[in-house]
This record gives sequence, structure tokens and C-alpha cells, in this order.
Amino acid sequence: MKKLISIILAAAALVTIILLSACGKKDSGKLVMATNAAFPPYEYVEDGKIIGIDAEIAALIAEELGLELEIKNVEFKSIVSGVESGKFDIGMAGMTVTEDRKKSVNFSTTYATGIQSIIVTDSSPITSVDDLGAEGATYKIGVQEQTTGDIYCRDDYGDDRVVSYANGATAVEALKSGKVDCVIIDNEPAKAFVKANSGLKILDTEYAVEDYAIAVGKNNEDLLTKINAALAKLTADGTIKKIIDKYIPAE
Ligand code: ARG
Repeated sequence: MKKLISIILAAAALVTIILLSACGKKDSGKLVMATNAAFPPYEYVEDGKIIGIDAEIAALIAEELGLELEIKNVEFKSIVSGVESGKFDIGMAGMTVTEDRKKSVNFSTTYATGIQSIIVTDSSPITSVDDLGAEGATYKIGVQEQTTGDIYCRDDYGDDRVVSYANGATAVEALKSGKVDCVIIDNEPAKAFVKANSGLKILDTEYAVEDYAIAVGKNNEDLLTKINAALAKLTADGTIKKIIDKYIPAE
């Protein structure tokens, strides 16, 4: 009898282990997307929900793939590493395609363009990007940690001139309180921040032009192919343009 009980217990334990390991693995019915939802109009929180261009496009891609979209709101700097390690299936965050990131993840075809813009206060002595690089200039530049704005500014102006913040909104707060002299961030969030805060403006000169794409794990070629097919379909039928136009009305 004792032996029988221990056999049953051992079998039960085995079943539990198998079930647990199945749960621990990523749920194959889901598409887990990492983003940083402080980046309007691409992703932001409204009424407790993450909405925006990326969230809408991702929902349609998930639908095409027959998967349920799950969006995780994380720090921007942990998106690429999380996709690389397989913690997230995709990273979609107004993310610029860069050679450096390509060493860690694959990128889908691009679905939007971004421009790095410069935000200053209305009374700022900075009038163009050239002022930042002028001989003897000491202007401090606020950026969002590990974004292309951060990376390029450190290259161009040196670490001493650049202050990184967890998100664009905190960088803008720092500009308003005089901790930095300008903020360099993607143009659409820049417009949203300027609209939401008085006393700020965007300079006419652009700092960099870039392409946005979806990051996918290197060992996930199959998913990348399917995402590109979904993007191609949603581009061809005008859906992506419609979503972008909804959030970025023509001026
Ligand atoms: N385009 C820039 C980059 O890739 C900034 C993206 C920031 N995105 C965000 N959701 N916070 O570095």
C-alpha cells in the first residue's frame, strides 16, 4: 500500500512538473509586445489603457497572426534586451532601426518615419541645431535614456553635455525647470509635449531623420516573416496610413 501511495505521489509530482514547465514557457497563443507608453502618439496611457499608433497596428498584426496581443509597459532601455532574450516576442515603441540594435535583434520592414527634433523654451538663445555644436557651447541637452537622441547627442556633444531621463515627459519637466537647455526627442512626441506645456517650442531644424520598425528576436525568423507579411497587407490596403493619419492629422 505504502509503495502504491509513493508511486501515485511520484506520478502526481511528475505531472505537476510537466504542467508547470508548460505554463512557464511563453503562451503560444499570445503575442507579447514590449513598449514604453510615454511616447504620444505612438504609445501612451489613456484611462488606464495603452493606446496609440503602435498599439493599434500591433493589435491588427496579432489578429492577422491569430494571436492575442499582450502589451507590457517597460522602460525603453529594457525593450531591445528583453526581445533579444525572448522575454518579449516583439518590441514596438516608435523604435528606430540602428546598426547597433541590429546586432541584438532583427527589425521588420519600417512602418513610419521619425525625426529627432529640438524642444526649447520660448525665450531660449538656442535657435538652431548649429548653436548646440558652436565653439564653446555648453548647453545641456535632455534626452530619453538609450534612445537614438541620447546615443547621437553623446557622440556629437560628449557625455558632459547630455542628461538622460527615464522618459520624454521627465526630460521636458527638466527643461521647464531649467535643468537642461533643450530636449532632443522624436518629432511627434515633441509636438505632443509642446502642446501640453506652455512656454515651449520646437526648432525648425531637424537633428536626424530615422525609420521606425518592430524588433523581433534573432531566433524568431518565422515570426518576423509573418509580421512582415501582415505589415505588407496592412500597408497595401491603406490601414496603416489610416491609423497614422488618425493620430497625426495633417497640418
Ligand atoms: N525613436 C527613438 C529610438 O528608437 C525613441 C523611441 C522612444 N520610444 C518610446 N516608446 N519611448 O531610440
